[in-house]
Amino acid sequence: MQGISGLPAILDTRRGESAKIAYQSGPDLTASTITLRFRSVREGDRIVLFRKSKDLVGLDIGSSAVKLVELKESKDGRYQLVKAGMETLSPEAIVDGAIMDSSLVVETIVRLFAATGVKNQNMAVAVSGHSVIVKQIQLPTMPEDELAESIHWEAEQYVPFDINDVYLDYVVLDPGSAGDTMKVLLVAAKKEKVDDFKNVVTQAGRVPALVDYDAFALQNCYEVNYGIDATRVIALVNIGASVMNVNILAQGQTVFWRDITFGGNQFTESLQKAFSLNFEQAEALKKGEPVAGQSRQSIEPVLRGVSEDAAAELHKTLDFFQATSGADKVDSVVIAGGGAKVARLDEVLRDKFGIPVEIMNPFRSIPALDRAADPTWLGDVSPALAVAVGLGLRKTGE
Ligand SMILES: Nc1ncnc2c1ncn2[C@@H]1O[C@H](COP(=O)(O)OP(=O)(O)OP(=O)(O)O)[C@@H](O)[C@H]1O
Ligand SMILES: [Mg+2]
Repeated sequence: MQGISGLPAILDTRRGESAKIAYQSGPDLTASTITLRFRSVREGDRIVLFRKSKDLVGLDIGSSAVKLVELKESKDGRYQLVKAGMETLSPEAIVDGAIMDSSLVVETIVRLFAATGVKNQNMAVAVSGHSVIVKQIQLPTMPEDELAESIHWEAEQYVPFDINDVYLDYVVLDPGSAGDTMKVLLVAAKKEKVDDFKNVVTQAGRVPALVDYDAFALQNCYEVNYGIDATRVIALVNIGASVMNVNILAQGQTVFWRDITFGGNQFTESLQKAFSLNFEQAEALKKGEPVAGQSRQSIEPVLRGVSEDAAAELHKTLDFFQATSGADKVDSVVIAGGGAKVARLDEVLRDKFGIPVEIMNPFRSIPALDRAADPTWLGDVSPALAVAVGLGLRKTGE
């Protein structure tokens, strides 16, 4: 199984912001070899040799709920679930991906730590949306230390924000040969946004050790659970409450990213309007609970209408990908996030795209330890834990 290897993180506090160990991607580097690697890492101006990487707890701070996943890697490179938990967040706490009420978020995180009893201090969190930029760029081949030096000004032309206002990371996807070009995957995110997410973790008494991008976490989760199939083009879609994170994989590598402002909230709002309900009632109804005399059957047409809108949005994105990437045609779609659980959404997508659409199981290859979580609850919410699983796979100092 592969995964967690070839993707940059927005910020790794142990590695240092601009210091970078390049050439780390590639099929030779597997999830199982990664913890055996000792590398030189640069902290600020200091090069620290032979430092072991550190396990992190995945903490997915979503706009509707905070999710926590702690994993353990065994000597044979397989993962086990140690703890999982989720706490609902009130909808005014995070709006359009921005933290509006940090104390609400901090309280929710603290509750989640208390409920799960997780002791590890080091968290991996993720951001997404307009303040994150991902680009695949071509640069003249150069040694890794030279690349680490020059990446800031090389990146400047690709990042639509002041380069001093972003955290930046990259990996070399293909080092190329001498005198040729190299392929580099670049990720940059606004410091302001990243710092807001770091601050809530700090205020909750833990260490925000690594900041990832939702779409990358999704990919890491997928690859560890399903392996890498270099022969097919797969669109991974994380459907949250307010945003859909799309990550398309081709030839076993990530090639396209987009965050679409559409999610579970659209279903809730439509139910609110159709049946004159408040937000909580509509949320419950959407999840199949009986509310105000409405049944699953009576809400079906409303959910179908919004599912068709979601399919149309996604279709535009897949069309754009196909038009700009030339030959690549998406072979299948894998959906995750709480929104993937909307009744029959997978069917509507299948009808629209005419290709297989599957709901991701983030625990397909990750068995749960006793007392990791209530098995019924875990089975029910698992698609919503995909990003948290991907974050829990990350390590610092790599
Ligand atoms: N059983 C279910 N049926 C329908 N919708 C569901 C179900 N369970 C969760 N959802 C919806 O999934 C969404 C939450 O998913 P998720 O936890 O992935 O989002 P988030 O990470 O909080 O949001 P975002 O990433 O957009 O900030 C909510 O809109 C919620 O109502
Ligand atoms: Mg989310």
